[in-house]
Amino acid sequence: MLAQEIVDKFWPEGRLNETFLSKQTNYLLAAYVDDAFAGFLYAFELDRLEQERPMMFFYSIDVLEKYRRQGIGKRLIEELNRICAQRNVSKMYVLTDEANTAALKLYQSTGGKRVMPDNVLFVYKEFADEG
Ligand SMILES: CC(C)(COP(=O)(O)OP(=O)(O)OC[C@H]1O[C@@H](n2cnc3c(N)ncnc32)[C@H](O)[C@@H]1OP(=O)(O)O)[C@@H](O)C(=O)NCCC(=O)NCCS
Repeated sequence: MLAQEIVDKFWPEGRLNETFLSKQTNYLLAAYVDDAFAGFLYAFELDRLEQERPMMFFYSIDVLEKYRRQGIGKRLIEELNRICAQRNVSKMYVLTDEANTAALKLYQSTGGKRVMPDNVLFVYKEFADEG
């Protein structure tokens, strides 16, 4: 079970179980040191049109400050890589920015490659909430 403060911060009002974890292709991995919550990542397995094997969109990772630089981020990604292999995922990708040295180092040291360094991310937001 995730620490309650993390659930409250990221998935208020029960959305964690009712929405996120109700989809079999959503992944949430949590790291603990002894019994203390230390960090988590989440990712989405995506179907592709052009081939049968899915891709993994590794969306987000956070390690609590006091547990950083102890190999926890690396362990979380290694576990996600293991799931990718088990699920026959063809490719996993993650986005970060040039200024995030810790993330750049972490992704490099877990096998990530910057294959398209000039890629640019466009964000479409402010869609009306129709719910
Ligand atoms: C990025 C983050 C998840 C790294 O987690 P972590 O548990 O500290 O990482 P690890 O201890 O597993 O370190 C993995 C590698 O990155 C290196 N590294 C980690 N933090 C670093 C830093 N601040 N500066 C330089 N290198 C760093 C480690 O030395 C290690 O390298 P090695 O494999 O060559 O020994 C953590 O810093 C964090 O939660 N940051 C805030 C949230 C964030 O930016 N998330 C990423 C968004 S894209």
